[in-house]
Amino acid sequence: MTTTAPTVTDAVKAAVILAITNMKGGVGKSTTTINLAKYIAQFSKQKVLVVDIDAQGNSTATFLSAVPKDALVGSDLFKAELPEGRLPAVASERVHVIAGDRLLKSVDGMVASDNAAARRALYQRFRANLRAVAQGYDVVIIDTPTTAEHRYFSAMVAADFSVTPALMDAFSLSGARDLVQALHDTKALYGNPRHKHVGILPNQFSKRSRLHQSSLEKITSAGIKVVPFQLNHRPAVQDAIDARRAVWEGDSEGRVNRAAGSEWKSACKAILAEVLQ
Ligand SMILES: Nc1ncnc2c1ncn2[C@@H]1O[C@H](COP(=O)(O)OP(=O)(O)OP(=O)(O)O)[C@@H](O)[C@H]1O
Ligand SMILES: [Mg+2]
Repeated sequence: MTTTAPTVTDAVKAAVILAITNMKGGVGKSTTTINLAKYIAQFSKQKVLVVDIDAQGNSTATFLSAVPKDALVGSDLFKAELPEGRLPAVASERVHVIAGDRLLKSVDGMVASDNAAARRALYQRFRANLRAVAQGYDVVIIDTPTTAEHRYFSAMVAADFSVTPALMDAFSLSGARDLVQALHDTKALYGNPRHKHVGILPNQFSKRSRLHQSSLEKITSAGIKVVPFQLNHRPAVQDAIDARRAVWEGDSEGRVNRAAGSEWKSACKAILAEVLQ
């Protein structure tokens, strides 16, 4: 099957930095990161840097069977100076990874939540380090943790764009309102006025669920940006992650769930089209 994947060639010179964020857990942040990185490498034929700032290291584990001892890791990006001579780990020709490591948890206690100036300085430090490392890549994708506000805002402040995978459950509207506030803080308080939100990406969706439909309608009517299609709940997505494959790639016997695969390819294509405008 042929795909006309968007590319960054000629569109922009510096790496495009995209954060995959949601303060809530289990919404598909890592799944989106992994599939998007594979999509860019496979179809756009461009160089991707996956930056995992979640100590769980779910994206890391998908791309690397082991993290090389001398590799640059996520917690390094929060240091005053980047350690010399350390580079992202090479997962494949076009996908490199800054691995999620245990020390990332210490970032949560680095500055007090009520100290806006110190927060801004921390987020700007991460931004400067990431932008230095991003040279030579076409797209950088940051996979972020749940309920870790300093890492959440570090990613938002470093990124040109963000995407918010979300479940359309009973709490989705309040989550979307928190997101509006976070976008405001990213731009006005923490120094990234040009940040652009690609939208909420409804995931694990069921068209037959009234709750999912009504939550989506409420968010849209509240004027919050939503990516204009939904990713359905499909077990094939979990199977693919388990096998370290993209959803559209066949298993060892060449079997692929076509509906799930084309859904995720369309999602990746739509996100990239927005990001590379
Ligand atoms: N569309 C989908 N259909 C079925 N399962 C899905 C779908 N999207 C994600 N999943 C599964 O849901 C679980 C949570 O997804 P994922 O790990 O990507 O979320 P997360 O937001 O990164 O979570 P965490 O906050 O723990 O980092 C995983 O087991 C994943 O395989
Ligand atoms: Mg995750």
